[in-house]
Amino acid sequence: MNPTLICKPTPLHRLDRASEKLGIDLWIKRDDLSGFAGGGNKGRKLEFLIGEALAQGADSFVTRGAFQSNYVRQAAFAAKMFGMEFHAAVMHWPYSLPGRETHPDGWKPPKADSGNMILDKLAEANIYVYEDGTFDEMDAHADALAERLRAEGRNVYQTPSGGSSPVGALGFVAACDELFEQADPFDYVLFASGSGSTQVGLVFGHRRAGCKTHLIGICTDDEPEMVDYFEQIAEGVSQLTLSNLKLSRNDFDLRQDYHGGGYQVPSAAAERAIRFLAHTEGILLDPVYTAKAFAGLMDLAEKKQIGGRVLFWHTGGLPTLLVPRE
Ligand SMILES: Cc1ncc(COP(=O)(O)O)c(C=O)c1O
Repeated sequence: MNPTLICKPTPLHRLDRASEKLGIDLWIKRDDLSGFAGGGNKGRKLEFLIGEALAQGADSFVTRGAFQSNYVRQAAFAAKMFGMEFHAAVMHWPYSLPGRETHPDGWKPPKADSGNMILDKLAEANIYVYEDGTFDEMDAHADALAERLRAEGRNVYQTPSGGSSPVGALGFVAACDELFEQADPFDYVLFASGSGSTQVGLVFGHRRAGCKTHLIGICTDDEPEMVDYFEQIAEGVSQLTLSNLKLSRNDFDLRQDYHGGGYQVPSAAAERAIRFLAHTEGILLDPVYTAKAFAGLMDLAEKKQIGGRVLFWHTGGLPTLLVPRE
């Protein structure tokens, strides 16, 4: 039995002023208000991940991520709630492939003891900061952590970054059923996409229900190759749900135009999106994920490439709005 972590359903409402300014019928799904450990999309995945960890009798939870990861923050609290030790391997600037190690001009590392790092401490998380490197290197650090704990006799449950295993994606498959109870299918759904299980779960849940909704993930990193991994997650979701539905890379509309130079790199368009939504609706976006996604939505609306009933799925991330740069 999976634990309940978030307050469901998260609110769904229309954005009247923003709709008028952008010339679309714009709605928002408020996973930023999910009510668990500061809010955000990871609570949905963690209900399934913690459920699996508990079923395996785990006493330790190991993962990895970026220095200011929202997943690490929420996973740390979820593990704590269920009596598990929490360990995470983190880097300031993880990158997918060798050759992407150079920070763009003007990029500054997020300040320690700020944003999610403050909350990780509150959760009594064990955070190990490693030198920047590839995702594979970060995986290797997390594997080594897990090995050390196993050698000490611990029963370890390990997840990829962002909780993006097929089990984590089930949280967003279930989220689609929650949405369908709240409203008729939208013409478009837009959201920030990173490690993939949000997009895979949303696409799977819509296609399984036979919805024609156009789902657009705004990639928050310079990583077009991520769709290959999405395909693997989707394959795992088909198996877990005993479904004949098979998704391939072509089922994932992952836009590369709005990451502003890479993960955590500030962009003028994201800054504009933060001000727009805060000033028109009093809703706060974060600079790393949701502001880039909303900047994409604004651009597509301005170019009239989206229209009709449009849903922005707000995936949270507020702590990083409060992070000063070194
Ligand atoms: C605030 C926020 N939005 C969106 C995402 C992207 O979700 P996913 O990693 O499932 O693609 C993340 C991932 O860390 C996030 O923290």
